[in-house]
Amino acid sequence: MKTLLAFAAACGFLLISTSAVAIGDPEAGQAKSTACIACHGADGNSMMGEWPKLAGQHAGYLAKQLREFRSGERANAIMRGMAAGLSDEDINDLAAFYASQTLQFGEADPDLVAQGEAIYRGGDSVRGVPACSGCHGPAGRVNAPGNFPWLAGQHAEYTATQMHAFRTMERHNDINGMMRGSATNISDEQIEAVASFIQGLRP
Ligand code: HEC
Ligand code: HEC
Repeated sequence: MKTLLAFAAACGFLLISTSAVAIGDPEAGQAKSTACIACHGADGNSMMGEWPKLAGQHAGYLAKQLREFRSGERANAIMRGMAAGLSDEDINDLAAFYASQTLQFGEADPDLVAQGEAIYRGGDSVRGVPACSGCHGPAGRVNAPGNFPWLAGQHAEYTATQMHAFRTMERHNDINGMMRGSATNISDEQIEAVASFIQGLRP
């Protein structure tokens, strides 16, 4: 766990010196997004908690996920089908489009927010859960040219699903097992609380 925490701290340090890079054409991406609207919304703000919001997400992260749905490295039947026919250019354009949209933030459950914030900012040293802010930043939005997703404002239901999937290692597309390692010891109750806190988190 010490290694993981040190790594998280190192990531935080590296992230400060980097900035987002445009990877595709947002207008072309919008034209290609018609098949995505039913679930992710016209502007990437989905209405249902099981479908992630994509608006304002880091383009490099979105493109990585689409490539990995396409290859099956991130297993999801719906998204595998949606990504199957996309070229690398389509993926970069779609990622650029959603990254350019404005995220609609959510609200935390008042009963869970204190416990959720404590885990997000401090982890749980007894159980061996690292602070999420070490990699995802104090406001849930770090500027990194790749693989650290912005979490703030995401649906709690989706965030919780991903935490369970990392914990069971069903989702294993995280570089160096960073999220599997972070989720190993988190409890169901802690997942619910931190996911709710993240839903209400605003930069
Ligand atoms: C029928 C509903 C549906 C449609 C249509 C759909 N998606 Fe998804 N999408 C999902 C679901 C469900 C997930 C979460 C999968 C999981 O749990 O791993 C997801 C996840 C994603 C993610 C990962 C987000 C993240 O934060 O990791 C991206 C990117 C994405 N979709 C892009 C697209 C694009 C681009 C299209 C259109 C080409 C599309 N989706 C069409 C349901 C849909
Ligand atoms: C050591 C660094 C690190 C720590 C600590 C960490 N994460 Fe992550 N997290 C990542 C990386 C890297 C990814 C992207 C994985 C990928 O490439 O698909 C990620 C992805 C995620 C995702 C998926 C987002 C999406 O849109 O699908 C969620 C949810 C998440 N982290 C929540 C958390 C929570 C909650 C904590 C604290 C309990 C935490 N993370 C701690 C590095 C970290």
